[in-house]
Amino acid sequence: MTREIAVLFVCLGNICRSPLAEGVFRHLLDQEGLADRFRVDSAGTDSWHVGESPDARSVRTAAAHGISLGGHARQTLPEDFRRFDYIVAMDRSNLADLQRFRDGVGGEASLYLLREFDPQGEPGAEVPDPYYGGPKGFEDAFAMVERSCRGLLDHILEEEGMAS
Ligand code: 4NP
Repeated sequence: MTREIAVLFVCLGNICRSPLAEGVFRHLLDQEGLADRFRVDSAGTDSWHVGESPDARSVRTAAAHGISLGGHARQTLPEDFRRFDYIVAMDRSNLADLQRFRDGVGGEASLYLLREFDPQGEPGAEVPDPYYGGPKGFEDAFAMVERSCRGLLDHILEEEGMAS
């Protein structure tokens, strides 16, 4: 059996941005016929919202683009750095937290900032936290995530020797 490629999306609360990225990436894998080659999940660096469903505003935004979100929030775990090949942070603060965490517990996962793969992203570009803002923040986050996920998938396929 071919090895599964494991990708984890990470934000702060695991209710707004990372569930959106997980849903968009799954949708892309479905479209490309690659879903059975991947394991995809999301998590938050903080524990505040553990067990909650994705934020209703993220669910509505994704639904407007034909994508359904699922799952329940969980916090990042030490074993994530062994169980996932690619861990993808939404902002620089998430990335710094992940780097510190991995330094403490070890693990082989590669860490990235999602918008490294956004064709419209400047170096260091982030998916800003939309939690305290209005609906436009969620639409903007969706657009950034959608642009970046295509680039992320292309990067992974290249890394894994699966590029056509
Ligand atoms: P997320 O958004 O990190 O994209 O899930 C947030 C959700 C909750 C909070 C902050 C950001 N909060 O402060 O509770």
